[in-house]
Amino acid sequence: AVTRTFSIIKPDATRRNLTGAVTAKLEEAGLRVVASKRIHMTKEQAEGFYAVHKERPFFGELTEFMMSEPVVVQVLEGEDAVKRNRDVMGATNPAEADEGTIRKEFALSIGENTVHGSDSEENAAIEIAFFFNDDEIVG
Ligand code: CMP
Repeated sequence: AVTRTFSIIKPDATRRNLTGAVTAKLEEAGLRVVASKRIHMTKEQAEGFYAVHKERPFFGELTEFMMSEPVVVQVLEGEDAVKRNRDVMGATNPAEADEGTIRKEFALSIGENTVHGSDSEENAAIEIAFFFNDDEIVG
């Protein structure tokens, strides 16, 4: 079925002017950008978005990184979008990412790993609603 997922192009990518290159990989994978905006995350947004990781040792590093430079938040649509996006992103740790994936090609480290993608359809709906109003998504 055609579904939606949520994506973030992270600060390591916007800093290196890779917004277009990353988006091209998403599009080549069969995903369609149906909403997109460049934002500079506030502390409230970064800590709220990653609240599930609050107890992790890397929470401070993660939220500081996500506030360090602009990001591009996107809604992606396509056949089985969550899985399709996770496949093209590659493993969280770029050292473990498959050839041809976004993280293999662009990611710098497990933290500076170029993209975020929702891990389930349930979380995709929550994450989309965190950053977008319905009228900002044009399918
Ligand atoms: P993301 O999909 O955005 O969701 C949580 C993020 O935490 C993950 O991508 C990684 O970038 C980050 N992360 C996971 N493990 C570590 C780690 N050991 N050190 C720093 N960041 C991490």
